[in-house]
Amino acid sequence: MNTDTAQPILGAGISEGRLLKPIRYPWAYELYEQAVANTWFPHEVQLGEDLADFARMTDEEKHAVTFLMSYFNPNELLVNKALAFGVYPYVNAPEAHLYLAKQMWEEANHCVAFEYVLETFPIDRGAAYAAHVETPSMAAKEAFEVRYLTRMTERTLDITTLEGKRDFVRNLVAYNVILEGIWFYSGFMVALSFRQRNLLRNFGSLIDWVVRDESLHLKFGINLVLTVLEENPELQTGDFADEIRQMILDAVGLEERYNHDLLPHGILGLNADYINTYVRYLADRRLEELGFPAHYGVSNPAKWMAAANDTLELVNFFEATNTSYEVNARTS
Ligand SMILES: [Fe+2]
Ligand SMILES: [Fe+2]
Repeated sequence: MNTDTAQPILGAGISEGRLLKPIRYPWAYELYEQAVANTWFPHEVQLGEDLADFARMTDEEKHAVTFLMSYFNPNELLVNKALAFGVYPYVNAPEAHLYLAKQMWEEANHCVAFEYVLETFPIDRGAAYAAHVETPSMAAKEAFEVRYLTRMTERTLDITTLEGKRDFVRNLVAYNVILEGIWFYSGFMVALSFRQRNLLRNFGSLIDWVVRDESLHLKFGINLVLTVLEENPELQTGDFADEIRQMILDAVGLEERYNHDLLPHGILGLNADYINTYVRYLADRRLEELGFPAHYGVSNPAKWMAAANDTLELVNFFEATNTSYEVNARTS
């Protein structure tokens, strides 16, 4: 019998986790197969066709696109650091390693996709790059992430200890649930709002592909958090639950500040309050997926997000109710 089947998902061994079958965590292998089927290449999208739209956009609209790129470009790479230093080394299941390897390629692909935006649109790359350090609300979001990741890079984490497992979960919540599952989605909504107004349609297609990948990343991360909690009941204390919940609420506050800098005055159909209601809606969904009650109790102001991504099965993972509502609404 393959003794690997007795291995829990966490572990830092080198001799373990080298035989794929039998698969202990089928959700991880299914996500790997789905991710491979989703493979795409940024330059297949004809971004140059959006240049005329970009030229006639207002200064605040151009600022919003630039601001999003300033945030997304470095943070796609930050996610890869979180995976490489904070997740992959502490997971033993080979099916999880397969998925993480594909996810890391996807984050690299997203980085290249957003570089394609910078090289196509008349955006000053130097200024866009500088913003992630020079804009306090953007720098604060990165500092939040780096705080959790640094614990795993500046010293060796012992994944067999309670504190090691807590640090693993904290980092996973920080980069996956918060960065990918709340902050990125808030940015995707703003990016796709231009297409809602018949602007930047090809940019919208690029974002569609990224959203499709990110939906899988989120599903993998949440499954991983829940599996680690289930296999390590000693982590399930009231204090640790409170800490994780508070991380998510703090992250909403950081995003609200950032969104005021993203849209200082508001553009047609969209202002910071609208985005922040969506952020609170997202935070409630993430809280519920982790087993907490919703905190904000707001309804989704951007129901079109689910309907706009009609090819994206996994967007429906998070917005199933709204999507089926939209589909019913359209067909009735
Ligand atoms: Fe990404
Ligand atoms: Fe991601």
